Amino acid sequence: MVKILAFAGSGRKDSVNKKVVQVAAQGAKEAGAEVTFVELESFDMPIFTEDLEAEKGMHAGGQQFKELLMSHDGFLIASPEYNSSYSALFKNAIDWASRKVGDEKPLQAYKGKVAGIMAASPGALGGMRVLVTLRMLMENLGTLVLPTQKAVGNAFSLFDEQGNCTDEKTEKALKAIGRQVAETCQKLKD
Ligand SMILES: Cc1cc2nc3c(=O)[nH]c(=O)nc-3n(C[C@H](O)[C@H](O)[C@H](O)COP(=O)(O)O)c2cc1C
Repeated sequence: MVKILAFAGSGRKDSVNKKVVQVAAQGAKEAGAEVTFVELESFDMPIFTEDLEAEKGMHAGGQQFKELLMSHDGFLIASPEYNSSYSALFKNAIDWASRKVGDEKPLQAYKGKVAGIMAASPGALGGMRVLVTLRMLMENLGTLVLPTQKAVGNAFSLFDEQGNCTDEKTEKALKAIGRQVAETCQKLKD
């Protein structure tokens, strides 16, 4: 069975990006994939420095997140746009998981994986600028980022108190990204 890891680049409790990625996750599940949703802020990952790595080696939280990436076929990522780019929380996690330990292959967490990317913002543009940087980052790491992407604008008004998407068009677009990631992973496995 195809396994997909879903996460958002925001550590905010009420993050709209967490809501968005969970709608896409539902689409992947409906296409037959097993989806694991994780919250980046739950991993113990200090700000990466090479001195810290040289002194203490791979940090346990970084290794835990890396192993999750390695054990899944694809990713669903929803990112907030912070000053036109991704958050420090997100990039720090990506950097930790890019570090090789023992017999791991270089960039094993990223190479050959498939990703669907999304952004959400209370602003009208939905964080569309972060999608450019996010796509470039993930592709440079060896992940195949699917062409279809979605920036969800005015995002605070599109979810009810339970976190359900109240806009049919947005829900359909997000679920389609989840489905496409699941289907592409399956084709690569066949
Ligand atoms: C440091 C910072 C920079 C931001 N920059 C942008 C931005 O460039 N574009 C944008 O649409 N929203 C920007 N925002 C607003 C975020 O889109 C908003 O806080 C959003 O809710 C974050 O996503 P979340 O709900 O998943 O946490 C910024 C917020 C912060 C804290």
